Amino acid sequence: MAGNFSPCNKIGLAPMAGPGDSGFRRICRECGADYTVTEMISAKALRYGADKTVALAKYTKDETPILIQLFGREPESMEYAAAYIWEHFSPAGIDLNMGCPAPKIFNNREGSALLREPDLASELVRAARKGCGGPVSVKMRIGIDKPDPAIIDFAREMESAGAAFITVHGRTRDQFYSGSANYDVIREIKKSVSIPVIANGDVVDGFSAERILRETNADGFMLARGALGAPDVFQRIKSHLNGAEQEMSTLEKRFEICRKHLAYAVDDKGEERACVEFRKHMLWYLKGIPGAAALKVQAGRISSIVECESLIAEILNK
Ligand SMILES: Cc1cc2nc3c(=O)[nH]c(=O)nc-3n(C[C@H](O)[C@H](O)[C@H](O)COP(=O)(O)O)c2cc1C
Repeated sequence: MAGNFSPCNKIGLAPMAGPGDSGFRRICRECGADYTVTEMISAKALRYGADKTVALAKYTKDETPILIQLFGREPESMEYAAAYIWEHFSPAGIDLNMGCPAPKIFNNREGSALLREPDLASELVRAARKGCGGPVSVKMRIGIDKPDPAIIDFAREMESAGAAFITVHGRTRDQFYSGSANYDVIREIKKSVSIPVIANGDVVDGFSAERILRETNADGFMLARGALGAPDVFQRIKSHLNGAEQEMSTLEKRFEICRKHLAYAVDDKGEERACVEFRKHMLWYLKGIPGAAALKVQAGRISSIVECESLIAEILNK
């Protein structure tokens, strides 16, 4: 495949370690996401051939175009991992994680900690490019403890190192996922580089999609949490942006999507594991449903497709 992927004028499903597995990516793509990104994968663990890590890079053609996301801070591991990914999985491109705020990652000076080390970050981009035959992109935040004016130079350095585009989540590392995304900084970054800039943060519907595009002037955007329990958010956003009539969002439609999602998860991981992992998705699908407390208890115990089906039937017959 690959070589010519562009995220411009597209709506991507942002990477989510945990919920953003193959089944979820597949249902989001079917519901209108233009491309997807894998959960973050450790370059170092790939280098040492950890089976569980390799499994994270697997995807179906229904999730494509797909970017495989790597994290790490060792240029040699990054080059090896990028080459391995390219040879065995040939995704549309490889994305480098420079935004993860999780203490385990940050304290290892990986993920968002790389924002403090632009030289090493550039080296990682160059290393990934050496290994990868397609585009290498960077996903970053806007600073560590505050929006950092040096982030503009950081973005420029990623461009000079050969990043094909950058995705900017408009929060600092210390914000994790709280507060609101800062679109002013994304707009400043967009003004300062010539490669495409993809905006990210707080898109949950058509209005917020319109806003992120207007306020950042970015070339496209991606969203993560807004798709949890609502993969059809992509279709709804597209209808809104095209000025088309919005289809009514019904419970029947929501759970039709939920059923398909579970089927894709089962395809990927087998019934037992898929159902256990689906419990958290079920809670997202239950969001906003009156009297959901008892249903949530049931959702937390799902261990088979039949149990999931009977819970859905109960919800729809209420
Ligand atoms: C559960 C979860 C896991 C995430 N995992 C990743 C990840 O593996 N790689 C990454 O770059 N960002 C990850 N993110 C960040 C999202 O990709 C996105 O940048 C962030 O949630 C902001 O977008 P949103 O407001 O649309 O959710 C994760 C977010 C969540 C909520």
